[in-house]
Amino acid sequence: MDYLPIFVELKGRLVLLVGGGEVAARKATLLLRAGALLRVIAPELRSELQQRYQAGELEWYKGEFQPEYLDGIFLVIAATDDRILNHQVFSEADKRGILVNVVDDQAHCSFIFPSIIDRSPVLVAISSAGKAPVLARLIREKLEALLPSSLGMMANIAGKWRERVKQRLTSMRQRRSFWEQAFNGRFAMLVTNGQIQQAEKQLEQQLEQSDSQGELALVGAGPGDPGLLTLKGLQVIQQADVVLYDHLVSSDVLDLVRRDADKICVGKRAGNHSVSQEETNRLIVKFARRGEKVVRLKGGDPFIFGRGGEELQVAASAGIPFQVVPGITAAIGATAYAGIPLTHREHSQSITFITGHCREKGNELDWPALARGYQTLVIYMGTVKAALISHQLILHGRAEDTPVAVIGCGTRLEQQVLTGTLLELEQLAQQAPSPALLVVGEVAQLHHQIAWFGQQSIAKISRPAVVDFA
Ligand SMILES: C[S@@+](CC[C@H](N)C(=O)[O-])C[C@H]1O[C@@H](n2cnc3c(N)ncnc32)[C@H](O)[C@@H]1O
Repeated sequence: MDYLPIFVELKGRLVLLVGGGEVAARKATLLLRAGALLRVIAPELRSELQQRYQAGELEWYKGEFQPEYLDGIFLVIAATDDRILNHQVFSEADKRGILVNVVDDQAHCSFIFPSIIDRSPVLVAISSAGKAPVLARLIREKLEALLPSSLGMMANIAGKWRERVKQRLTSMRQRRSFWEQAFNGRFAMLVTNGQIQQAEKQLEQQLEQSDSQGELALVGAGPGDPGLLTLKGLQVIQQADVVLYDHLVSSDVLDLVRRDADKICVGKRAGNHSVSQEETNRLIVKFARRGEKVVRLKGGDPFIFGRGGEELQVAASAGIPFQVVPGITAAIGATAYAGIPLTHREHSQSITFITGHCREKGNELDWPALARGYQTLVIYMGTVKAALISHQLILHGRAEDTPVAVIGCGTRLEQQVLTGTLLELEQLAQQAPSPALLVVGEVAQLHHQIAWFGQQSIAKISRPAVVDFA
């Protein structure tokens, strides 16, 4: 961190502003808004500062800066167009340990002014540590649009109710959950509409009804790129008390979880279940019964080869309220990032998602149907059984030279797309990083025309692989 963001109380404190021009006037406005006792040193004052002086809003020492003027000063701003004078102000103040800012001269600042979004008492400060002010401004514009002007009013009402809520709800988690519900729900809507009395009634009601019932949210984290998490998913993981996540959830997505939520890995990998499904189910029930907001965060979509249904059945029979936030499944995300459209008017009229993690003989799948042409097959967890899958498809009529792709770490920076033919599927699968998805069908070859994401290494096997199905 280049700077520590802090909010400084200026009310009743002496602030020295050296300079009487336009830039100084802008800083004066900000400092006076924060309640500073402002002392300006300048031979002349521009009209705006002049008006403020005449209105008694600031003190004016007419003349040049003298180091003695720093006595008793809390903070200094040098805003003259004389570089040497600005530097002198900096070194005198710095020597005395007084915080100083030379406007537009970062090397001579012991603090800098951030971009501000003012919804007082809510303040958002943004800084790029002077490295990309335009970026900071763009972020501010985006946030300005997101943050309703009623935010300040909402915070004021919350301040008024805070003590009462504290008395009624004794645990911190209950209180947090109460306020989250208020700020995300009807209370917020009423304040935004200017219906302040009704908004307070709503808080009253919510407080009466509040209890400590826990809940479960099944959230799809998407295939890896955190940008593919849904807005709702983000909102829910930001409110979680406990997050039970599996191995497939990328660390970038985990970074978005509320900082002080308990994060527990209940990861599963093929053949390596670090926490059994029964244990995961038990944890869900245990935490929810304690009144916690439990998020079960799963890679991709929770209902696609994710055992999401089983976990909801457990919650339903334990009487725990639940919701599901869908995610982008690997088949959709990874193929999109690999430049492989799942359907195409010339090549594929249907898509089938199957799991390769099938039971021993593998004959419970309808191979004749899966081997038909003009369709795309996407195989999850297919790496280990790639030889069997390729063999069965060829045996049931799919051409040996049908294009295939194996996408490893889809949508992540490490994504790799390996392409070849159905006969080569096993070899490709062995080379791909994990997790990997197998795609069978003519659309796979479109990767070579429309791949767009990242540095993709494309391995084309030149010799047909020798596959032993014995
Ligand atoms: C247990 S399934 C979970 C699927 C997940 N629920 C979904 O909707 O994507 C795990 C399999 O999904 C596939 N997978 C998940 N994330 C992937 C990614 N980023 N790239 C490629 N395949 C992925 C792999 O085939 C992996 O073995």
